[in-house]
Amino acid sequence: MIEKGSVIAAEAGKAKHLIGRQDRAMLSPQSKTLGNVVELMRKKIGGFLVSAAFQRSTLAPLARWALRRVNSFYKFGTRFKMDMQLVERGHYAYCMMNAAILAQSLGHTRISAIEFGVAGGNGLRFMCDFADEVLKLTGVTIDCYGFDTGSGMPPPDGAKDLPYWFQSGQYRMDVPALKARVPNGKLVLGEIRDTLPDFVKTHDPAPIGVIFNDTDYWSSTRDSFRLFDLVAQHPGNFLPRLFLYFDDIIGTEVEMYGPYNGQLLAINEYNDQQSAVKIHLNQNLLGADHLPWRWQIYYAHLFDHPQYDTYVGAIRQGALESALRLQV
Ligand SMILES: C[S@@+](CC[C@H](N)C(=O)[O-])C[C@H]1O[C@@H](n2cnc3c(N)ncnc32)[C@H](O)[C@@H]1O
Repeated sequence: MIEKGSVIAAEAGKAKHLIGRQDRAMLSPQSKTLGNVVELMRKKIGGFLVSAAFQRSTLAPLARWALRRVNSFYKFGTRFKMDMQLVERGHYAYCMMNAAILAQSLGHTRISAIEFGVAGGNGLRFMCDFADEVLKLTGVTIDCYGFDTGSGMPPPDGAKDLPYWFQSGQYRMDVPALKARVPNGKLVLGEIRDTLPDFVKTHDPAPIGVIFNDTDYWSSTRDSFRLFDLVAQHPGNFLPRLFLYFDDIIGTEVEMYGPYNGQLLAINEYNDQQSAVKIHLNQNLLGADHLPWRWQIYYAHLFDHPQYDTYVGAIRQGALESALRLQV
């Protein structure tokens, strides 16, 4: 969840690293006081700017415009940029950062993020760039994979693929250009139904914690879920819970996405077919009505995963327990 005040914690942490204990001891009392006042103001202003109330306000786009310009000479922290919606793909950033935090609490230092449906590669490029930010903040490396035919959309497989909107050959990739522009992105080229079954055996990916699904079709999304067939044999290649994003469940009056076509239908059918893995909307974001992508972030629970029950609540539960203790 985008937390009110997460920037405060991050910025406070940064300040501690910038001024070590010895340096602080050498500062005069006046400079310490001034430093504290500046720090407090930074916290207050930062907290106000990222608050849901401000983000919802008509001033927020203007503030973003101004902060983007300031960011060209004063680099804001990643958390602040996320909370302020200054990152290019906030939904990708949210999933990657939170998967890394989950990985950390499970003792992993490397995970994988997958994009199904790469096209020109702007999503994969963002993933590779943002992985550097996540590494700096969390110490978790993210390997980024992109699945695509390489030659655009395959033919639709009937009415549920919205053939009135998608056509074979749309969104072609310039493979050499993409490989040159995003050298760290790992492309898996071919139809998903052909490339997926051997993916884990061939690539032995670090635990997969994030999936961005932008394949447009019901049939391609359905095929992408075959990835979870590999969990039983290769649990070490998965986190027990994943952050998912589905691009094609909100659109226009022309697309007319719904539970009986496209990606939503694939999700519903998959949930109905088996019980080991369930995919559902991430409900913590629903109150964050300033985030336009809040209806597109899902979780996947891999209930049979050996790390599923591993306790990850130590830090947050500590705070919660003290808040719930009877006040005397
Ligand atoms: C809308 S584009 C992806 C856009 C990209 N994610 C971005 O953000 O720029 C959809 C892509 O999904 C790919 N695709 C759809 N079905 C596929 C399948 N069954 N196998 C492989 N690729 C598929 C198409 O080739 C196309 O490039």
